[in-house]
Amino acid sequence: MSTVLDFERLKMEGHKISIVTAYDAWSARIVARSRVDALLVGDSAAMVMHGHTTTVAATVAVMALHTRAVARASGDKFLIVDLPFLSFRRGVSAAMAAVGTLVQSGAQAVKLEGVDGHEEVITQIVGSGVPVMGHIGLTPQSVNQLGGFRVQGKGNGQAEKLAQQAHALEALGCFSIVLECIPAALASRITSELRIPTIGIGAGPGTDGQVLVLQDLWGVDPSRAPRFVRRYLDGERLLTNAIDEYDADVKHARFPTPEESYS
Ligand code: KIV
Repeated sequence: MSTVLDFERLKMEGHKISIVTAYDAWSARIVARSRVDALLVGDSAAMVMHGHTTTVAATVAVMALHTRAVARASGDKFLIVDLPFLSFRRGVSAAMAAVGTLVQSGAQAVKLEGVDGHEEVITQIVGSGVPVMGHIGLTPQSVNQLGGFRVQGKGNGQAEKLAQQAHALEALGCFSIVLECIPAALASRITSELRIPTIGIGAGPGTDGQVLVLQDLWGVDPSRAPRFVRRYLDGERLLTNAIDEYDADVKHARFPTPEESYS
């Protein structure tokens, strides 16, 4: 995939869409060589890269720094970037300044959480020629209001509200919507009702695509173990073993060899 137009086409053709996060050039280079469809510079960078317990620590400056690094290495992968906490809640002109910074850093689309209260901002971003990805369900920037990282949309009332929000985002011109941590049946229903593709994370198999945090997929931090994560690698063990092998080679004078030295 290389443009925003591919999202709706893939949904129409019944092809699933795969997205992973990236926050730096070296991992973006690896993802660029994979068959995954698109990259997300998520505000999860605050947690994964900077060790915070929530995403609210991410700022426009932090997101721009990670975006520039990823954009240098992401090749022709479509690059979506999160608008961080409050950056789109300080009025339209502040939101547009944040969008400008991220697009000039390499974003081809921005993602923002929620819909109620920022309809005008979404209209303005879309109207300015920047594709917008919505994000509803568990919206981590509202973790303090949600009382933790919890599944959303469980009761009938909440489910209906989420369905309405999804329709509102489509009507506002979003090209796609992330559905995070909602019941699988609700995600399937929303997916079947929308023209634009839904991208799930903790939303079951019925969405049009999936997004995962790259470090979760690689299993580099087993302490982060939400139920929806599938580890494709025991990354922590592999990486620790490699460092321990290096350590042993240094301590037993096996590294460096003459071939690894200059004469
Ligand atoms: O910040 C992020 O990584 C995200 C995805 C998990 C959807 O928003």
